[in-house]
Amino acid sequence: MAILDKHKLIETNATLLLILSFLVVTIGGIVQIVPLFYLENTIEKVEGMRPYTPLELAGRDIYIREGCYVCHSQMIRPMRDEVERYGHYSLAAESMYDHPFQWGSKRTGPDLARVGGRYSDEWHVDHLRNPEAVVPESVMPKYAFLEERMIDGKYIGDLMATNAFVGVPYSDEMLEAAQADFRAQADPDSDYDGLLERYGDTVNVRNFDGQPGISETDALIAYLQMLGTLVDFSTFTPDASR
Ligand code: HEC
Repeated sequence: MAILDKHKLIETNATLLLILSFLVVTIGGIVQIVPLFYLENTIEKVEGMRPYTPLELAGRDIYIREGCYVCHSQMIRPMRDEVERYGHYSLAAESMYDHPFQWGSKRTGPDLARVGGRYSDEWHVDHLRNPEAVVPESVMPKYAFLEERMIDGKYIGDLMATNAFVGVPYSDEMLEAAQADFRAQADPDSDYDGLLERYGDTVNVRNFDGQPGISETDALIAYLQMLGTLVDFSTFTPDASR
């Protein structure tokens, strides 16, 4: 056939094949890249997303410091087996306040993107203290020492200011109240109205580790219990107009 004969010309001429391949890739690249210069934002706005509370942010820092991401991802891929195991697939907006994001690809342990609310605080305390006591076949290391390490949130305002600098919408009021909010979230007997006013009334206010004082375990559990709970997926519908 005539058209196949013409194709033979391209396939037998390496230079021509190279030039034409380059042309095709260039056009494809331009079509993908150019629109990004005109879009203000590639992340769909999603209701419920808020910056992390000071205590959650401190917990996130401990999560990163301890290398939890080495064994745990925080991104549910939109594949059926993933969604059935972990819940709704992750949205870009859910990590919009993460600097750096914790998506990951290594899963020695399960994905943690929606672990919030799945277990009780007591479960997390027991599990962090000695994972094998809760899940006998676990290879997760023990993190009991975090309970002994007390934190006072002295530098949490600075960390929030740094996050604000790279685009996390912490208001001046949030920055000013950083230490007070940090303490209030771990103490259900405190006056935490301001905290809820600033971050929303779905914020968990509890003595997470059940011990007096604020430990690194408190902060870490506050962070874990928030993961994946900010967006209400019973009412969420993807915005197809964007
Ligand atoms: C060496 C790899 C490893 C590291 C590091 C690690 N984990 Fe794990 N984690 C696991 C494994 C394996 C499991 C599954 C068995 C179990 O539940 O203990 C697990 C389970 C969990 C679970 C329960 C998840 C679920 O849905 O059942 C949580 C929560 C968790 N890890 C949190 C953490 C945190 C927080 C850190 C860092 C302080 C951490 N892990 C560090 C391997 C690891």
